Amino acid sequence: MSSQPAQQPRTVLVTGGNRGIGLAIARAFAAQGDNVAITSRSGEGPEGLFTVKADVTDTASVDAAISEVEAHFGPVEVLVANAGITKDTLMLRMSEDDFTSVLDTNLTGSFRVVKRSLKGMIKARRGRVVFISSVVGLLGGAGQVNYSSSKAALVGFARSLTRELGGRGITANVVAPGFIETEMTAVLEDELKKSYQAQIPAGRFAQPEEVAKVVTWLASDDAAYISGAVIPVDGGLGMGH
Ligand SMILES: NC(=O)c1ccc[n+]([C@@H]2O[C@H](COP(=O)([O-])OP(=O)(O)OC[C@H]3O[C@@H](n4cnc5c(N)ncnc54)[C@H](OP(=O)(O)O)[C@@H]3O)[C@@H](O)[C@H]2O)c1
Repeated sequence: MSSQPAQQPRTVLVTGGNRGIGLAIARAFAAQGDNVAITSRSGEGPEGLFTVKADVTDTASVDAAISEVEAHFGPVEVLVANAGITKDTLMLRMSEDDFTSVLDTNLTGSFRVVKRSLKGMIKARRGRVVFISSVVGLLGGAGQVNYSSSKAALVGFARSLTRELGGRGITANVVAPGFIETEMTAVLEDELKKSYQAQIPAGRFAQPEEVAKVVTWLASDDAAYISGAVIPVDGGLGMGH
């Protein structure tokens, strides 16, 4: 007798799954039959996805949202820490608030959701944590001291988590997208976009679905022996790190 057919349906939570990369990830998990919950700050979400209201900078809001997901679908088995912001500006103009608010969302926000989701994974002795970092985390970016610091820190986070929980069937990995066409990048000046594109060996930007495919694979049984890894989805932009 073969083992159980695929691991589905699992409870998947994607923070910031209401738009952009997070939405593509949520749809990819839903398409393979998982029970998908997403967070948005307004509490509104796209048709067909179970949406809970959460602001990752607020521990109480994260706790309440994950309790709601657990009540609806059961404990979170796959967590995608995707919610993130940028506040780009050159170092000498960067206020302390520009720095700490980006860290609070991208890094401490990930800490809040991971901490709240882990108990169920530890009890079940299985789980997947995927952090959405950025090529900028390891490559750096002018005007992005805050953002790149927050994204680089997710690597240490995933690797420490792997050392703590690797023996309990839990993996923690980092996906590092390059330039993906979403609202986050739509606001950039055309000149800047052109200069980014010139540096990308693939010669193009990517769609959110290209990131989603890597995330669903990392969360699959096929990737059970991959943990603490940084997987670039950047057309070669960041290679060498
Ligand atoms: N686009 C790229 O080229 C690129 C490249 C590398 C990495 N990334 C990373 O990929 C992730 C998604 O980016 P994206 O391009 O899809 O961005 P986006 O379109 O701007 O979406 C950002 C998402 O994060 C959520 N979010 C922001 N602050 C939040 C908070 N305090 N609490 C809860 N949710 C919050 C937003 O929720 P609301 O809708 O409620 O505001 C939204 O769902 C981010 O971590 C980003 O850093 C993006």
